[in-house]
Amino acid sequence: MKAGFVSSVLILLACWYLYEPIPSGFSQPWKLRAVWAGVKVVMDASWIAETLGLVPAHEVLRFAEELRTSNAPEKRAKDLVLDGIPVRAYNVKDSGPNGRYPGLVYYHGGGWALSSTKKYDRLMLGILEQIDIIIVSVDYRLAGKDGVRYPEPLDDCLTATKYFLTHCSTLFGVDPERVAIGGDSAGGNLAAAVALKLRDEHFSPMPKLQVLIYPVLQAVDFLLPSMVQNKHGPILTRYWLAKFCQLYATGSTEHVSQMLNNNHTSQSAKTFIYDRYIRHEDLELNYHYKPYKKPRLDFGNDRLWSRIKDVMMSPYFAPLLAENLADLPETYLYTPHYDVLRDEGILYSRRLKAAGVPVSHVEDPTAFHGICSWRRWFPVEGERCMNGITDFLNGKI
Ligand SMILES: *[C@@H]1O[C@H](CO)[C@@H](O)[C@H](O)[C@H]1NC(C)=O
Repeated sequence: MKAGFVSSVLILLACWYLYEPIPSGFSQPWKLRAVWAGVKVVMDASWIAETLGLVPAHEVLRFAEELRTSNAPEKRAKDLVLDGIPVRAYNVKDSGPNGRYPGLVYYHGGGWALSSTKKYDRLMLGILEQIDIIIVSVDYRLAGKDGVRYPEPLDDCLTATKYFLTHCSTLFGVDPERVAIGGDSAGGNLAAAVALKLRDEHFSPMPKLQVLIYPVLQAVDFLLPSMVQNKHGPILTRYWLAKFCQLYATGSTEHVSQMLNNNHTSQSAKTFIYDRYIRHEDLELNYHYKPYKKPRLDFGNDRLWSRIKDVMMSPYFAPLLAENLADLPETYLYTPHYDVLRDEGILYSRRLKAAGVPVSHVEDPTAFHGICSWRRWFPVEGERCMNGITDFLNGKI
């Protein structure tokens, strides 16, 4: 009897976790279902641990992330320190700094709070199989660790990037006129923010290119069509996006439920933002997926907004809210169709183009958020994502 009951519960649970909508046209739907079910179990366990007051959810995820990828010593990588910031350098030439190589400064993803340069060895080495470029991947401080929050991770990225741009010729034999910056997810946010900050400071030399892979570009509107359509994932859910955004913005995660209803902004801020930066009508109608309704603008939370607005409205936190996007580096922007972040990427691409910045925008119709980091598991879409980066770099750097 008991065994029968337990196994029924287990079967129901398995169905619950395995029954998930998967991007149509995806190459390995059942494998993705299984992987996504595994990720969801960890996410739900971390939520339960946090709800019970045991440990913050992002700590559980960080721990699981540590287990997911092995840290085999990688002898093609060198851990260095640039102006006090730890970085991991790849493809550093034994012959010393006497070439005119191109360079890439990379900021890894992981919601500003997870992962590390080591976890990105595989992607960096994959890129190097296709282009002879010297890569410096920045180990910025992670949000939520020892009270770290915006702008500290960004400051680390900026410090390392400025140092690299200034000294790359003597240190690595890299031509400072041929340097790209780039990142994925939260790292894409950092890359876009670094580009804006360097432009605003009239830094020279500017990076020649920016590579933005499913970047986070704002945290004021969680009701864009792509947010509604993909709120259950795969891999990145709307709930976790809001959580990571708040963790980065404030160092805590107590307002996620307000953020999910867009009730962390004031009424006047909403009207202003929708009018200027996040115009849903600029998205093609076929993105206005079924349960989508244009969000209401007639409510708000002035008290909460007054506490967080300085960060939330800063273009260095939310590049999509930058007043002016002119004079930014030529851009590669990759957005998977099945991603909560898709629409802010599309809007950023439109605004960059309107400001005169050349943009190569690729939307993958069957991929989901994070696909570049799952290349070993899902090679069809994963290779496509990585090849987009290397093709762009090969053609433009
Ligand atoms: C938004 O937040 C305010 C302040 O907490 C609250 O009074 C209001 O009912 C909320 N509105 C909605 C639509 O959730």
